This record gives sequence, structure tokens and C-alpha cells, in this order.
Amino acid sequence: MSQLQLSKDSWSSQTVFIMAAVGSAVGLGNLWKFPYITGENGGGAFVLVYLGCVLLIGIPVLLSELALGRAGKANPVQAMANVARENGGSRLWGLLGLNGVLAGALILSFYTVIAGWAVSYFVDSLKGVFIGIDANAVGEHFSGLLANPYELIFWHTVVTLFTVIVVAKGIKSGIEKAITFMMPGLLLILLVLLGYATTTGAFTQSLNFLFAPDFSKLTWQAVLTAMGHAFFTLSIGLGTMMVYGSYLSKEYSIVKAGLWIAFADTIVALLAGLVIFSIVFANGLEAGSGPGLLFQTLPVAFGEMAGGWFFGTLFFALVVMAALSSAISLIEPAVSWFDQNWGIKRVKAAWILGFIIWTIGIGTVLSFNEWSDLHFLGERTFFDSVDYITANIMLPLGGLLMAVFVAWILKDDVRSQEIPLSGNLMSVFIFVLKWIAPIAVMVVFSTNLVADDAVVTMVLITFALYAIYVWNAKRDKS
Ligand code: PFF
Repeated sequence: MSQLQLSKDSWSSQTVFIMAAVGSAVGLGNLWKFPYITGENGGGAFVLVYLGCVLLIGIPVLLSELALGRAGKANPVQAMANVARENGGSRLWGLLGLNGVLAGALILSFYTVIAGWAVSYFVDSLKGVFIGIDANAVGEHFSGLLANPYELIFWHTVVTLFTVIVVAKGIKSGIEKAITFMMPGLLLILLVLLGYATTTGAFTQSLNFLFAPDFSKLTWQAVLTAMGHAFFTLSIGLGTMMVYGSYLSKEYSIVKAGLWIAFADTIVALLAGLVIFSIVFANGLEAGSGPGLLFQTLPVAFGEMAGGWFFGTLFFALVVMAALSSAISLIEPAVSWFDQNWGIKRVKAAWILGFIIWTIGIGTVLSFNEWSDLHFLGERTFFDSVDYITANIMLPLGGLLMAVFVAWILKDDVRSQEIPLSGNLMSVFIFVLKWIAPIAVMVVFSTNLVADDAVVTMVLITFALYAIYVWNAKRDKS
């Protein structure tokens, strides 16, 4: 394949790039998913495993993905084809990019539905619906929303439209503008809420829940969830960071950017967790109540705190913005692939893809009402199935193969040019990519062998691919 298609756009500055990447990483994963999966999986021990995954697997894969994007200078499918060709790897590596493009579209299909809940809460908060509301009433408000497919489809449509419009505008006038205003605001509001959380009387309980590990509560399924979430929350494994990296000019530091992204993302998740569990415990709510957690707890706090109307409205506005900055990044790999490889211009590509993704999203909408008894993958609803396949299979598998590529196939000089680490650090980095990250992902996959047939297949494929690539790479290098 010739290297015709290259990204022409570029970020205005390193800071803007970091903000956009943080904008992609910080989203519903931090504010909505992290607290609820932590609640479902018993707290501290789960958080510890999650942090371990971020540190040991997440950061190395993040740096690798950014490096592959910058070296390949194109959308994920083409970038992988480019780097493979230049480094003596097989053309099949393009498939890794395709896995990412597909995963991005699938994630976005449910992401817009959940972001739609946040938009609807923003509007309700603005209207004063939550003033003085108690925990029961919020619970009913939330179930009422989920029971109404038309309302959900309406908000899902609003979010999809917004995403398409921003992405259609391109990097500088679309994505950058949206990001630079949102990220600092989000942090500020979280800090205000943290202040409130300390007054609830359950702050210490919340701290204990998050940070005092009880390993008896940990299952292998929880470890898989933690690992999948590390990929999801850092936006790695699917090519978002690759395509963002492809717009990054050579003089900027990938290492610095990567560390900032991981740090900011983790801090936001932990703060959100602290705030939410303080409110949960103070109001005698259930920590393991699942996807509704954020939407059933925060309004209670806003309902009774001074200035609650103002902060509540602002908070939901920020959840929406955090979600949108991630939504944009989920569709970007596919849009740039359409644009660069298929000659479908950005604007048209964004609309076509938006429509396809919107249609798939209807399945998620229905999972909460009409189709709530329909099971797809095992006992899972449509929404749970898409979430499971993407976060627990496609992203870890994508990340694993990126690690393998950077460790075994990328030429040494390209690697050290993109990720200039000093001698010892570089050896550790390569060791992690070669052995720790792939083996961790595979072990976690295989422990689910008995539990899930889909995983069995993926594990076998993974083992086979790993063996083939390592063998291939060794042969090429010798
Ligand atoms: N990292 C985002 C979040 O935590 O909400 C979700 C996400 C965005 C995942 C982009 C993957 C991605 F490529």
C-alpha cells in the first residue's frame, strides 16, 4: 500500500493537543462509569487493580499509540499500514486500525445515549426540577426517563448531531475550540463539589470505600472490568490517540503529553468517585446500583446544597461537555479514515457515520425499556453486550497488539525518536510492552475461559496472533 494518505491537519500547540487528548480521556468513563463499576465491584481492591492497570499497561500503551500515530501520520488503518511497511511488518497490521475504527463507532453508539441522559438532566436542572428533591424522587425521575424510548431517542439525536457538527468542522475550528474552554471548567466544578462532599458527614466512609482494599470482594471478572476500564478511560486501544497523535508535530514530547493525560484522567475519576460515594453514603443509597448511580445521587446533593441550582446546572453542563469532547474523539478515527482512504470528504463522512452510529444507538435506547428482557451476549442486554465487546475485548486486544508492534516490530531508532526515554527507562518500557502488558491482558482473558464463550475465542485468537507476530518480528530482525 502506498503512503499517499497523510494527515494534513495539525494541533496549534502542545498545550492544545494535551487538552484535546485529556478531553478525549476525561468523559463519561470518569464521571459515570468509574464510580458505578467501582460500586458494583466492592470499592478499594477494584480501585487498586484499576490504578495498577493504568500504570503498568495504560501508560505504556498510551505512549505507544501516540507514537504509532505520529510515525504513521494518518488515520489508524492507514497509519498502521504505513508504519508496518516502513518497519518491515505485515500489511495485515491495517486490521488493527480497522478494529479501532469499528470499536470507536460501537462505543459512540451507546456513548451518545448516556450523554443524552446528561443533557436531559442539564435541562431539568436549569428548569429547577431538582430543587429540594429527595433521593426517592430522583430515583423515580431517573426510571421515568429510562422508561421512555422517545425521550431517550430525542436526546441521543441531539448529542449525535452536536458530535457530527463539531467533527465536520475539523481540528482547529471544531475540536480545539470546543476543548479549550471545557477542561479547566470541569476541574473547577469538581473541586467545588469535593468541598461539598466533605460536609456530607460521609466523606471518610467514601475515602475508605475507595482506598481501603478488601480483596475478598475481588473476582476475576472484576479484574477484567478494571483492565477494560483502564483502556476505556484513557481512550486507548482503538486509535483515537493514534489519530490525535497523527496531528502532532515532531517537536512536541509524547512522553510529557502521555503522563499528563494519564494523570489528569486518574485524578478526575478519583475525585468524581469521592464526591459521588460521599453523597451515596450520606443518603443511605446503594453503592452497587449500576449505571444509574451518577444520575440518582448528584441531584440529591444539588437539591439540598446552597447554590445547588447553579452548581447542579453547571455540573451537568460540564458532564455534557466532557462527554462531547470524548464523543468527538470516538468518531474521528472513522471520519479521517473515510476522508483519507475513501475520498469521502470530512463533512460528508461525519454525516454518514453519524447516521450509522445513531441507528446502532437505538438498540441501546431500547435496552432500557422495550428490549430490557432481550439478551444478546449471554445474559447481557444490547447495551451491556456492546459495552462488553468493546471495553473488555476490542480495546484490550487493540492495545495489546499496539504494544506488540512497538516492542517487537518498530525499528529501534524510530522508537527512541518518538519516545525518547533514557537507557534504563527505555529497557523497562520495552520489557513492559513485550511481556507484562500482553501477558496481563492474555491472563485476564483466559481466566474468563470458563465464564464466557466469546472470550474463549478471543483468547485463542490472541494467543495465536501473539505467537505469529513475535515469530515474524524475530525473523525480520535476524
Ligand atoms: N475515555 C472516554 C471516557 O472515559 O469517557 C471514552 C473514550 C473516548 C473511549 C475515546 C475510547 C476513545 F477512543
